[in-house]
Amino acid sequence: MDLVDRPIGLFDSGVGGLTVLRTIKRVLPEENIIYFGDTARVPYGTKSKSTIKKFSLQNVRFLSQFNIKLLVVACNSSSAVALLDLKREFNISVLGVIEPAVRKAVQISEGKIGVIATSATIESGAYQRTIRKIAKEENKEIEILVKDCPLFVPLAEEGWLQNKISQQVAQRYLSFFKDKIDVLILGCTHYPLLKRIIRKATGAKTVLIDSAKETARLVKDVLEKQGLSAHKTKPFLSKKGRVKFYVSDSPRRFKKIGERFLGTGIGKVECIKLE
Ligand code: DGL
Repeated sequence: MDLVDRPIGLFDSGVGGLTVLRTIKRVLPEENIIYFGDTARVPYGTKSKSTIKKFSLQNVRFLSQFNIKLLVVACNSSSAVALLDLKREFNISVLGVIEPAVRKAVQISEGKIGVIATSATIESGAYQRTIRKIAKEENKEIEILVKDCPLFVPLAEEGWLQNKISQQVAQRYLSFFKDKIDVLILGCTHYPLLKRIIRKATGAKTVLIDSAKETARLVKDVLEKQGLSAHKTKPFLSKKGRVKFYVSDSPRRFKKIGERFLGTGIGKVECIKLE
């Protein structure tokens, strides 16, 4: 197999990472991708650091058997607590979703950035640290406000994207931000689905940053720089890449909910047991 035809490996705690997959497919349609959703152990966002690290390492051990050319940690909670361990443990390029989103946020912010995410992500302090680091590099003064929004995950999976209950939940979580921030990072795979109610609650002037979009751009840049981009190397072929789906439980539920997250049908989903 040509180096460029090797797949990108991507994992998430479940279906949420499909928002990242969807964006990567849009930007890089020629890439082969292996998606793993840890549906047996989702959610990660309510678990401890050590558990999320352990699960993330096992997920990547599974993905690494496919000779992947790049690993994308689509799950924010894993990116927040396990990224360094994954980089240390595996001899592959690893990208998380936090830094790309933060770069964009710091670049456009006039000084007040909000972050919403799972409890594990917020408690890890990873977004706060990354914002401070990049603001320093950019010589900018940034005030940071954070809020965990755990109920957004089940609401998005239930498909309650705009109803009254979801709007009330969004108001309850986000009224705290109203007129206090100019940029809000959606620091969880599920939140892009709830953009409408989030924007309503924070006010139309707040710019929402979708980490999936920023990560897809970075994946493209990194592959091009490393000479591993399927498109750049074989533009004359421009064939569509293949996506293979693996989960650790309930392929049927993954397909049903996942199709909403991905925006298209999901073909075969294989269920595997992780050791
Ligand atoms: N994928 C997770 C994240 O982005 C959200 C779902 C979960 O808690 O596992 O943090």
